[in-house]
Amino acid sequence: MKRIKAIYPGSFDPPTNGHLDLIERGSKIFDELVVAILRNPEKDPLFSVADRRKMLESMTAGFDNVSIDTFDGLTVDYALRVEAQAILRGIRAISDYEYELQMALMNRKLQPALETVFMMPAEKYSYLSSRLVREVAQLGGSIACLVPELVEQKVREKMDIAHKFANGDHAARKTPSEGKSKPKKKKS
Ligand code: PNS
Repeated sequence: MKRIKAIYPGSFDPPTNGHLDLIERGSKIFDELVVAILRNPEKDPLFSVADRRKMLESMTAGFDNVSIDTFDGLTVDYALRVEAQAILRGIRAISDYEYELQMALMNRKLQPALETVFMMPAEKYSYLSSRLVREVAQLGGSIACLVPELVEQKVREKMDIAHKFANGDHAARKTPSEGKSKPKKKKS
């Protein structure tokens, strides 16, 4: 019997409950699912690829047919390398569709044997994205219920470090003369 292996490529910075929902759905229809984190040197990510990998490994520990990997270069080349037949992508709303369609058709042009399969996460995650999670956390909002507990904790740690750094940086910028009145210019 033919076994279908799929890859689920993405940035996962950080992985969210929406990603987890899609992984769970994908694990039910594919025999094997590889969550593939893009190593993108151009982006300035919140989490290193190693951190993202650890978080995803922990989140997916309960799924026997799901594994985590990293890749660079073209998604289609990676898919062929790991002998996958399909690319899984999530579509949350119509707004995702145009970009996802463009990518799917480009990937088909590059590698006609590969199929892109779109799945929809639960409606309760339809507004959820890694970018919004980062933004809400950075501005002090709660991200509980948006990401798994472990990710929430890691994001909070990141924000604490960032705040401490920002405060330290501010203090470091203070010169010993700060706070004292400016020395008066010598009258010539
Ligand atoms: O989670 P993201 O950021 O929406 O994922 C986008 C991703 C990683 C799937 C896409 O950027 C990608 O496939 N990048 C690898 C390079 C590539 O294959 N580019 C051509 C895509 S048509």
